[in-house]
Order: sequence, then structure tokens, then C-alpha cells
Amino acid sequence: MSYRQILTILILSSGIVFAASCSKSDQKQSIESASSPDEVYAAEPESGVDYHSFANTADYRVTHVDMDLTVDFSRKVIAGTAVLQFDRLNDENNALILDTRDLTIESVRTSNADQPQDVSFSLSDTVDFRGAPLTIEVPANSSAVVINYQTSPAASGLQWLEPRQTAGKRHPFLFTQAQAIHARSFVPLQDTPGVRITYSATVRTPRELRAVMSANNDPAAEKNGVYSFTMPQAIPSYLLALAVGDLEFKPMGARTGVYAEKEILDAAAAEFADTEAMLETTEEAYGPYRWDRYDLLILPPSFPFGGMENPRLSFITPTVIAGDKSLVALIAHELAHSWSGNLVTNSSWRDLWLNEGFTTYLTNRIMQFVYGDDRYHMEMALGYADLQSDLEELDDPDELLAIDKRGRDPDEAFSNVPYEKGSLFLFEIEQKIGREAFDQFLLDYFNKYAFQSITTEGFLAHLDQTLLKTHVEDLDADRIREWIFEPGIPEGAPHPQSDAFTRIDSIRQAWLDGAASAEGIDTSKWTYHQWKHFLDGMPDKLSREQMEDLEQAFKLTTSTNNEIAFSWLRIAIRNDYEPAYGRLEDFLTSIGRNKFLRPLYQDLMDSGKADMASRIFEKAKPGYHPLTVKRNSLIIYPDSAE
Ligand code: BES
Ligand code: ZN
Repeated sequence: MSYRQILTILILSSGIVFAASCSKSDQKQSIESASSPDEVYAAEPESGVDYHSFANTADYRVTHVDMDLTVDFSRKVIAGTAVLQFDRLNDENNALILDTRDLTIESVRTSNADQPQDVSFSLSDTVDFRGAPLTIEVPANSSAVVINYQTSPAASGLQWLEPRQTAGKRHPFLFTQAQAIHARSFVPLQDTPGVRITYSATVRTPRELRAVMSANNDPAAEKNGVYSFTMPQAIPSYLLALAVGDLEFKPMGARTGVYAEKEILDAAAAEFADTEAMLETTEEAYGPYRWDRYDLLILPPSFPFGGMENPRLSFITPTVIAGDKSLVALIAHELAHSWSGNLVTNSSWRDLWLNEGFTTYLTNRIMQFVYGDDRYHMEMALGYADLQSDLEELDDPDELLAIDKRGRDPDEAFSNVPYEKGSLFLFEIEQKIGREAFDQFLLDYFNKYAFQSITTEGFLAHLDQTLLKTHVEDLDADRIREWIFEPGIPEGAPHPQSDAFTRIDSIRQAWLDGAASAEGIDTSKWTYHQWKHFLDGMPDKLSREQMEDLEQAFKLTTSTNNEIAFSWLRIAIRNDYEPAYGRLEDFLTSIGRNKFLRPLYQDLMDSGKADMASRIFEKAKPGYHPLTVKRNSLIIYPDSAE
């Protein structure tokens, strides 16, 4: 039995948390009450250990889950059974420990159909952000358990929407968001990306609604309130996904289509019409798409992310439907995860960069394949700017690619670093060894590790065996370690630039110098990316005259492009530009995407508008996702852990 397992059992049996130290030589202990655990960790995290799961994956591996779930909108509860099939990895006959959060466990039984037996189990109190371990005394001869359970209305992985929060305003809506550690709030399981499961599900909903999952959706299935799914490809738990709403389907291509409320179905299908082309071009470069169909689900605007790469069915915010395809890099990104992330999966949340960095690199490549060089350079330059601005704010340890997240909620240690620094690292390798060789490397990597999880160290070992052997002249192992284990951007790293942006820089400078009025700037051929660059490059402070000049010429407060509106609203907050406050309030109360909300609330706080921030936040809160409430509360009420 490993030290972690002993630890877990100590926690469970005594209600006392002992210090967790994963280096066996350096085990410090401190005793804290279970309600405020304060684990003391070894200096370095251990590769391959998931510090965010209680599951004893060295004893058991859950391989398949069958669910029968009823979605009850009036109680905001999902209730039903989950049958977990598992392999035993040893004959020690330890208890099976699963992850849960805010679940009510009604019973646990063995699965023999004719004579199910009750199995004894205990559900601990909530330990911390990891939730509460569920300990099941599985009988020696069994290989499956049937768990009868219910979720809580406050489940961190679910958002229950009132009809008024939907496009149609007539029906409620439910969606899940499992990444990083929220699957455990709607199914008891081994909630770690190191374990893969296949699944099947029967989902019971109100008759007039449709359920869809990260599985074999059937758009032709009769709308009757009972929907069946199977997912034959093994996935990590964070990719388990369900949504229920008044959904319709529109095909876009042979393998691609959109699910959305009918009010936005056509607009979404038009905006994302290039999805099929993206899919084909990605296959050409990086190998076959292994998931059968690739559909999009357009969520209501409270969805807390831009997108989520749920297999076969990416979940997408409606805020990227700009009318001109300017924000579709998001689709390329979620699609790319079908290779980097869903096929080859980060082993723990420390290794997130293996998902997001590779995906960001692939996104840029897909954008170049489909939209050409100018767009490619602009997307890369915008990503680089995002990275630079994060690096100004972050503490050194959070600037590594392999971020130590022990003792922290993974949602809270989230930044552009795994995305943009990860992508820049891969771009440097591409530059050094050439595109052809690097594409071949990626293709081989996806094939070799398909349907497996990989650690940062596993990736380094793979590099040792491959590129570091074949490209001795071009690559250097120390530099690679610097990228992964040191803060900041290594000296001499590539600096993506775009000529289209250089032109904007001189126009902006001339305007700032007073050499030109905003009205005099010819913006007729500017793309979204150029607008974004123009605004994000503004100095912190502008004069009232300058703000009015911009607004009068460009009507930025009423921009229908949410990214442009967002950049403008940040400028408006910094410069106390009241004419934009109405739009700001609309924006904050109608959109739940955290990438927009957090900076806006933070800007309000930083510019002495805490009252306005809390007033708008309290007004918007009933419509926000639990995650959005939690993260933004920390910004608005820094002193109270609300
Ligand atoms: N998988 C992520 C979202 C995520 C990451 C959720 C970590 C929870 C924990 C998704 O693919 C993503 O990166 N979305 C971005 C898209 C953007 C970078 C194009 C988003 O939502 O903004
Ligand atoms: Zn991603």
C-alpha cells in the first residue's frame, strides 16, 4: 500500500488529516482538523501522481460506467444509478475509493442481476476543494458496483438555467462542465485524467427537451424524454458531458453539425461552416479523426468557457458568433483537442500544458491551413500578447509549463501559460528542426500515445528517444528543461509578429501623438484581429478627449463583436468613461464567460469602483455558473472567502 493510500485511509477512518508528502524519504506530518486541511507536501510533486483525486487507482481501475439518470428541473437534481465496472490490480482486497462532491449516496450494491447484495460504504465529510472520498468495501469476487445517488442543486459541475436565460425563453436548460475536477459532482467515479472509461447512459428528461452527451448523439432520435447513448472510445472522466435543452440539429458537413436552440441554429451553422474543412485539414496533417462525428453544441451565454472539447460534441459559447467568422479559432482549438488532449491526455493537472499547449499550437496551424498566412501570424501575435500580459502578473512558480498545483483548486491556478508558453515552446522546436520533421513527430506522437495519458516526464523521455536523437545539432535537452521547469520565456525564444499589426502600431502612435484624428483613420479594411491589436496596445491612460474621439469615430461601446467590446470596456473602466457603463453592465449581466468577466471585475476593483463591481455582481450572480460565482467572488470580496 502506498503512502497516499495509507494517508487516505487515515483521513477516512479518523476524520483527521495527516500531512501528505509524496516523497517517501521526507514525510513531514502535521495534524489539522478535517475541515481545514493543511497538507504539507514534499518539495517536488511526484510525476504521474494526481493530487486532485482520492481514487486508489493502484488497486482498482474503473473501466466502464453505465448510467441511468433522471434530470429533474424542478428540484435541480440528477438522480439515478451508476454501475461501475472495474479491474482489480492486485489481490489485496482493499476498499474501492471514489471521488464525489456534494453527492447523496443512497445505496451501493453488487451487480448480479438476480440477487444484488448491499455493499457497505462510507462517505466522508467534504475534505476541501477535492470533495469527499467515497469508500466502498467491495466483496472479493465482484467486479462491478451499482451506486444509487443524487446530485445537489449546488453541484459544481452543473448549471441549471431558467427559461429566461435561454435564447427561446420558454424552456429550462442544463449543462455539465466536468474539467478539471467537477465530474465527481455529478457521478461518483475515479475522477482523474489518468483513468479512461467507456460508458453508456439512459437519460430521462422532460418530454419536450432533448439530451445530448459526449457520445453517439443521434439527431434523428425521437424527442420523447428518454435518450440512450453509448461511448465506445475510452475517455478520461473530465470529458464526460451532458446537456439538456430545447435543442435542434443542423448538419454543416458530412461529419459535422450543430446542436442549438432554434433561435440561433442558422447563425451558428453559418458562422462555423468551415468546421468540416478544419476537420479534414487536421486529419491530413496529424492522422485520422478517431471519434466518428464532430458536432458543436451552442450553449446559452452563461457558459463559463469559450469552449470545451467534449468528445464528438464540443460545447461552445454563443459569444463567438460574431457574424464574420472572426472568432472561429475557438472551433479550431476545440477540434484540435480531438488529437491533443482527448486522444493523448494529460496525466494530471500539472501536465495541463500537454493538452493546452499542443492544442494552441495545432490551432494556429489549422487557422493557417484554412485561412492563410496573414491570419496565422495575427492569431500567433495576439496569443503572444496574452502571454506577455499574464507573465507580468503571475508569480514565478506559476510561469512554469509543469505547474505545481498541489493544495490548490486547479481552477484557481489557471492562466495563458500552459496555452501560449506551451505553444511557443513547440513553435521553437518547429523553427529549429523544420515543419516537415515536426509534423511527422506530432503525427507519430498522437499514434504512439493514442487513448493514453502522458506525464510531462513521459513526454521528455519520448523527446529523448526521438527528436533529441535525430536532431542532435538543432535541439538541446537543457533548453527544453528550461522551457518546462523555469519561469518566463527563455532568452532568444521566437517572438511571433505580424506585418498587419506593425501597420496598426504606427497608426495608433500617430493618433496618440495627436498627428491624426480617429475620424481620419481608414479602418475600412481592418480585420477583427487588427481592431483587437489596436485597442489592446493603448496606454493605460487616455484623456477624455481621446476617449470621445475614439467613441465618436468607431462606436466601440455598441460593437457587436464581444472581443472588441471587451477590450474597449477595459479601456473605459481604466479611464472612468461613464458613457460605456451601461454597456458594461449589460455585458457583465448577460455573459458568463470567465475570460471576460474576471478581467473586467478586476479592472473595476483596481480602478476604485468596488461598489459598482459588487452591485453588478450581485445582480448578475443568479445567472452565473457556480464556478463563475466562486472565481469572481474572490476578486470582488478579497477579504471574505465567500
Ligand atoms: N479545455 C479548455 C477549457 C478548460 C481548461 C476548462 C481547463 C477547465 C479547465 C478548452 O479547450 C479551452 O481551452 N477553452 C478556451 C478556448 C480558447 C483558448 C480558444 C476558452 O474557453 O477560452
Ligand atoms: Zn483547450
